[in-house]
Amino acid sequence: PDVITIQELANRMAERGVEIIKYLMKDGAMHKITDVIDSDTAQLIAEEFGHTVRRVSEADVEEGFIGEKDNEEDLVPRAPVVTIMGHVDHGKTSLLDAVRAANVVSQEAGGITQHIGAYQVTIPSGQKITFIDTPGHAAFTAMRARGAKVTDIVILVVAADDGVKPQTIEAINHAKAAEVPIIIAINKIDKPGADPQRVRTELLSHEIVVESMGGDTLEIEVSALKRTNLDALLEAVVLQAEVLELKANPDRPADGVVVEAKLERGRGPVGTALVQRGTLRLGDIIVAGSAWGRVRALINDVGEHTKEAGPSVPVEVLGFDTAPEAGDQFAVVENEARAREITEYRERERRKTLAVAGQRGSLEQMMNQL
Ligand code: GTP
Ligand code: MG
Repeated sequence: PDVITIQELANRMAERGVEIIKYLMKDGAMHKITDVIDSDTAQLIAEEFGHTVRRVSEADVEEGFIGEKDNEEDLVPRAPVVTIMGHVDHGKTSLLDAVRAANVVSQEAGGITQHIGAYQVTIPSGQKITFIDTPGHAAFTAMRARGAKVTDIVILVVAADDGVKPQTIEAINHAKAAEVPIIIAINKIDKPGADPQRVRTELLSHEIVVESMGGDTLEIEVSALKRTNLDALLEAVVLQAEVLELKANPDRPADGVVVEAKLERGRGPVGTALVQRGTLRLGDIIVAGSAWGRVRALINDVGEHTKEAGPSVPVEVLGFDTAPEAGDQFAVVENEARAREITEYRERERRKTLAVAGQRGSLEQMMNQL
């Protein structure tokens, strides 16, 4: 059964805890402010104090949180969200850096300095692609553990001089479990010992049949170092994205995922939000996990302040009361009272399920080594 502490009940009614304790004493029951009472008793007390009670259940919270489903006619195309995975040292970061350097129009910001855990590039055809940087891994895993989806496509980087390795296989398994299509980037083809064909053959034993071997997994030979074939890789992403027909309704309160979060000196809690639906705006009341706040500033991936962010757009969000966690789902809610209701409910649930959280932690830890 649901329970609540006397203190919490008092807070919600904006009464002093001692008044509730006095009330309960009439029945001869002695209580401390930290005691828990069941929800039926809490309701009785609340009504006795002249409040209207609305019970918040999990379904209620989640339904209110997720909001209504979108109508088909409100959906418009959105940029694909791509996560780069692969074995250690196979060139994930180099590949991201190379792609970004070649495709970020950054004259306004004067170079690529900002690291917000996710960024968007516009390729020459005008198509936008959103990348989740390495910290996104944790989010990817956490989200998957909760049955939600952050990424539309995985680029699996395999070094041509090293071949398929344990973390390559883990990444394959993750992408498959999440039912996310994989694009193979055979990297480091500039190296003397490179053997791209061996990579293709090795992938076969993990049920990945690449296009050139008659399968349907796109594979591109690249060199992050020499910036070879990056356009072809991005074209493959665009091609794959077309098949997925990715759409979202930009015209609704925003929701999405927190891909990175931290506490920064002078700035307070900062979360990088990847908007999945709707448009996030300055002044919105946002809830993420058990954190909430009014959006005080939005900063895009090239470090500029912005007023809003639509589907597939990553932005830094300032204004949270505490730092959310990477992997938390976020949503804009109608008002502060609603935000409090949801975060308090979640905080209670979180305390109840600390054991489960521990499990998730270790899973994340494991996956962070990917
Ligand atoms: P972790 O984040 O540690 O898992 O590594 P990573 O996959 O991000 O690899 P990273 O980009 O750090 O590259 C590892 C090493 O490989 C670096 O020394 C890179 O310079 C080198 N490297 C990456 N791409 C290429 C490439 O295309 N050719 C060559 N020759 N070296 C590369
Ligand atoms: Mg790296």
